[in-house]
Amino acid sequence: MRIDVVSLFPEFVSQVAGHGVVGRAQERGLLTIHGWNPRDHAEGNYRRVDDRPFGGGPGMVMLIDPLQAVLKAAREADPRPAHTIYMSPQGAPLTQAKARELAGRERLILLCGRYEGVDERLLQAEVDEELSIGDYVLSGGELAAAVVIDAAARLLPGALNDAESAAQDSFEGEGGLLDCPHYTRPLEHPLGGVPPVLLSGNHAEIARWRRKQSLGRTWLRRPELIDRAALSKADRALLEAFLTELVAPGPE
Ligand code: ADE
Repeated sequence: MRIDVVSLFPEFVSQVAGHGVVGRAQERGLLTIHGWNPRDHAEGNYRRVDDRPFGGGPGMVMLIDPLQAVLKAAREADPRPAHTIYMSPQGAPLTQAKARELAGRERLILLCGRYEGVDERLLQAEVDEELSIGDYVLSGGELAAAVVIDAAARLLPGALNDAESAAQDSFEGEGGLLDCPHYTRPLEHPLGGVPPVLLSGNHAEIARWRRKQSLGRTWLRRPELIDRAALSKADRALLEAFLTELVAPGPE
């Protein structure tokens, strides 16, 4: 996979993407990330990339021409067609399903805006989709682009060491529920013990407990995900058991 990032601060995104799973995906040859600065494609002594908005108001708007030129250069750097995404709080929400879809593409261009935005005509002409990473406003698209890169890169085949670990993440399991709690050594700790079922060696019981915890957590923290999940009869029974134990905790 190849990702081109168009930004006034392209080093910022490549820095963030240089560590951890994304860094390793690059070392393993699964992913390349290339930064492009619209300022390098701007005209004149001042290499202007923005101007005041028509109609007045605060802030600056990014100019069409430097962005069009930098997008052209980025596209021409590789013959494969590139899916172009503008990072914006007005975009569709980034979800795990969207991350998976993006991870299946050979090439992405992530366009990061700064200031108050980008001339709408450029977006209409050059962008395939707009993505938001949440209902809050960042001062630029760079952090959002880093989030998209991380979410997609870890899904590339071979990026994670344990093939199982992505499948068990929150949102990835059956019904798109939240992940269950995890415990490791020591068994006894001043902060508390470990649920005994996890030490039982009974894999069916452990799977049941984990599913029950996922259902319960999702119900408590993200009830709208439960509404969407279309739970099986078995799941509904597990959730009910979780809620009963919540009100009247048993020996476990
Ligand atoms: N740019 C500014 N805020 C953003 C957000 N919430 N998501 C994506 N891009 C952004």
